[in-house]
Amino acid sequence: MLSALVTRAIQAYKAQFGESPSIVVRAPGRVNIIGEHTDYNDGFVLPMAIEREIIIALKPRSDDYVVIYSSDYDQVTQFSPSELVRVEDSLEIWAEYVKGVAWSLSDANDPLVGWDGAIAGDVPIGAGLSSSAAIELATARAFATASNFHWDGPVMARLCQRAENEWIGVKSGIMDQMISATGKAGHAVLIDCRSLDTRPVPLPENTVIAIMDTATRRELVTSAYNERREQCEAAAAFFGVPALRDVDLRTFEAREHELEPVIRRRARHVITENDRTLQAADAMSNGDAVRLGMLMNASHTSMRDDFEITNSALNTMVSLALEQPGCFGARMTGGGFGGCAVALVASEHASAFTENMNTLYQAAAGLTPSIFVTNATDGANIIV
Ligand code: GLA
Repeated sequence: MLSALVTRAIQAYKAQFGESPSIVVRAPGRVNIIGEHTDYNDGFVLPMAIEREIIIALKPRSDDYVVIYSSDYDQVTQFSPSELVRVEDSLEIWAEYVKGVAWSLSDANDPLVGWDGAIAGDVPIGAGLSSSAAIELATARAFATASNFHWDGPVMARLCQRAENEWIGVKSGIMDQMISATGKAGHAVLIDCRSLDTRPVPLPENTVIAIMDTATRRELVTSAYNERREQCEAAAAFFGVPALRDVDLRTFEAREHELEPVIRRRARHVITENDRTLQAADAMSNGDAVRLGMLMNASHTSMRDDFEITNSALNTMVSLALEQPGCFGARMTGGGFGGCAVALVASEHASAFTENMNTLYQAAAGLTPSIFVTNATDGANIIV
């Protein structure tokens, strides 16, 4: 059975182009269970792909033109990958992601085959669930299918990251694109952000992952993000290594007093978070929900006190979650400064958890949250 979202994309295609699409592709958003701001330090992350995704219904064309309709924005855009122009502050920001991927792929591949397409999605925007990686990977899947080129998840993730970094101008790491490309149903994926090796690890039995959107969004996230990157680079330079991945806790502790306090705190977060992420993957492999929950809690504290990327809404959400029966652990997830937190909850308590959290957060923060449970899904693939 096709999901409502897939049906919406197919209907939008039919309405726009007067015929049926021949292919339908999807790519998921993600939630990161642990390993925050470690990806651009060449470290480890442990995200999973979620049941929120971008769908593209399409049909290859006989030329290289791409004509694409967004059912969410009710906008059409068209371009040829051979003559792309970037639009600054575009009112069709979704289209810049599609164009950015076309630019990055055409730079790396033989000429691309064009397509007509309709796009529909349900990944909340700006919430820290990687709606941008989802649109990038769905676009890459559409081009790969239309042009019949080989799909290699990590290679595609790198090309989409290049679109994000150079076309969109956001200097994000590789985590979001990697998990949207290589997610595995029922599993989180331990990703080594240096080698791009992946190890799927099953979610502990009888637990669920709950996503808790604080309904806060912060402006100027990009500058705060870039500032954190620079501080991490300064710390790596101090230790004389290419990235903080190469500094272990012992080495850090032996010399941390020589570092300026802010840089010291930033480095401490990244170095301890890498360690927690590896431990979390082992805890998951052993089905140890209690240990995994403790590591998630320690990660939140580190992001609150050392990396300083939480806001009061995220701290409130996490504190409330930890008071609920059956909650093993909770932390903010994603880039920070707003957006979502994530919790590991015993399955038998899941529905009471979401209900209580809705009421309690609303009363405490005066904002209406969105709290939902999600399974882990596969990465970008072809549905039809
Ligand atoms: C954003 C970036 C990712 C990663 C996270 C923080 O989501 O896109 O590359 O750096 O922040 O872990």
